[in-house]
Amino acid sequence: MCGIVAYTGCKEAYPILIKGLKRLEYRGYDSAGVALLQQDGIALYKCRGRVADLDEMCANKNVSAHTGIGHTRWATHGEPNTENAHPHLSADGKIALIHNGIIENYLVLKQELISRGYTFKSGTDTEVLVHLVEDIFKKEDVTLPEAVRIALSGVVGTYALAILSADAPDQLILAKKGSPLLIGMGDNEFFVGSDGAPIVEYTKKVVYLEDGDVAVAIPGKKLEIRNVNEEGKQRRYQQKLVMNLEQLEKGGFEHYMLKEIFEQPKAIKDSMRGRLNVKKDVVSLGGIIEYETKMMNARRFIMVACGTSWHAATVAEYLFESLVRVPVEVEYASEFRYRNPIIYEDDVVIAISQSGETADTIAAVELAKSRGATVIGICNVVGSTLARATHAGSYTHAGPEIGVASTKAFTAQVTVLTLMALCLARKKGTLALSEYHDIVNNLEEIPAKVEETLKLNDQIREIAKTFVDKRNAIYLGRGINFPVALEGALKLKEISYIHAEGYPSAEMKHGPIALIDEEMPVVVLATEQETYEKTVSNIQEVKARKGKIISVVTRGDELVKQMSDYCIEIPQTQELLTPLISCVPLQLLAYHVAVLRGCNVDKPRNLAKSVSVE
Ligand code: AGP
Repeated sequence: MCGIVAYTGCKEAYPILIKGLKRLEYRGYDSAGVALLQQDGIALYKCRGRVADLDEMCANKNVSAHTGIGHTRWATHGEPNTENAHPHLSADGKIALIHNGIIENYLVLKQELISRGYTFKSGTDTEVLVHLVEDIFKKEDVTLPEAVRIALSGVVGTYALAILSADAPDQLILAKKGSPLLIGMGDNEFFVGSDGAPIVEYTKKVVYLEDGDVAVAIPGKKLEIRNVNEEGKQRRYQQKLVMNLEQLEKGGFEHYMLKEIFEQPKAIKDSMRGRLNVKKDVVSLGGIIEYETKMMNARRFIMVACGTSWHAATVAEYLFESLVRVPVEVEYASEFRYRNPIIYEDDVVIAISQSGETADTIAAVELAKSRGATVIGICNVVGSTLARATHAGSYTHAGPEIGVASTKAFTAQVTVLTLMALCLARKKGTLALSEYHDIVNNLEEIPAKVEETLKLNDQIREIAKTFVDKRNAIYLGRGINFPVALEGALKLKEISYIHAEGYPSAEMKHGPIALIDEEMPVVVLATEQETYEKTVSNIQEVKARKGKIISVVTRGDELVKQMSDYCIEIPQTQELLTPLISCVPLQLLAYHVAVLRGCNVDKPRNLAKSVSVE
């Protein structure tokens, strides 16, 4: 998954490109590069490493230009190095191209181009594209944009492209299929980005390209969009970018992740805004109104997602089966898409994704649609591929999530899923009114209770010190806290690199208990009421083997507190809403352990914010 920035207009392009790339580094950061259109041709600068390394390399170079393209990479084909960094140049050095996505048939195309005498400098799939465009442009009597359209009609895979040519001063060619690309509409200038982050400082008027689009941006002229699958010029409506600059900054926090953990009261409020009105006794999600009947008559719900979003889906399994009384299946999108699943037309698939660009989740959506199921999306990025691929859906409105480790998106997803379950349960009559009001009233108090829980930050930072030299950890949870145990384990492993596993508490005796010793921290979520005694027994079993207990309990629970080496007390809430609060201490724990271990919290090794490739 990579970040793309481009600019053409009257301003100096380079500063816009570099600042934009820094804002997109969460999409990938193993190499970076720019191509600048100058009087005597294309100036190309690229290197392995961060955008800051590229900027340092360009410090004494001629970077003056009014048209340019920039790229920050997350390697898919070809290891992270300078040769594989984008942009890539045509053989004659007159065309430069950057790409986000995967060209699946690149080997076939590469062989054909080699047979035509082309040589390749990199091991990437992307370089095939620039030579293909060059070959067509030279051999056919067509314009460069037309050559791009012809080339892309023979490409299998996904792409967001920005192309410039020394023969077409101040022109940008942009193309999109399966990877996001936005065009910011300035006054006689165009700003291009993989999302709104590099654009929002300059304009909020944006056009989202659709799959197959090839756009030509020339300052002083109207944006012209054609499509590889359709004849004639295409109209794409101009939309308002729903983000602002301060959201993109760290707001005084040391890391984006910590900022986003502390933004959760607001994110949860925003995900309920206009959807929950306790006084008027209304719970409604505007984005799915047209499909409410379909959802009420669903034979079952199939939740598809990856990573943290899959954990939100697993929380939803407890919510929907408890409240809506309809079977729920939770599927890893990557498994679902390939196992030829049985999907009925009266199934409702709910696809959950923060970025809306996760390749496996999008593929699972396309599969479900092809089998006739209704597909509902829950997504955080407006205009993302998933948002446009589903029949209907609800945005989580958590605001941009920059830290690679997902935090506020998780709680916002669980909030929207809770609202969805409540809305359907109320309409189906599967929930007693008194219970419905109990949950709704507690839900309204969740942001304040999360605010209270965040005040435990200092205590949790102290507990984190006991994890710093550990190599493993176990997280245990029962019932609706089981997915929270999984999420807590994922947070710890993905940013502190400590191996951590989440288990249903009762599962410990079926194997993992063999791992317990004085070196093994065991985080136990012990807030649930129904199986509380069983959890107390699990804690005693761990203690008997000298395991260290870090418990998360409902405030005032003295029994578990006295059994624990460390005890985190969180505010009480309705049991089904517990994950919205119990996940917060685990997020903070993972954050502080990672900081103490000197890890790169916002950009953990090997990870990217959105996995838009398989
Ligand atoms: C979560 O902290 C990870 N960054 C990762 O598991 C993430 O949740 C997963 O890649 C799914 O991303 P999505 O929600 O954007 O689809």
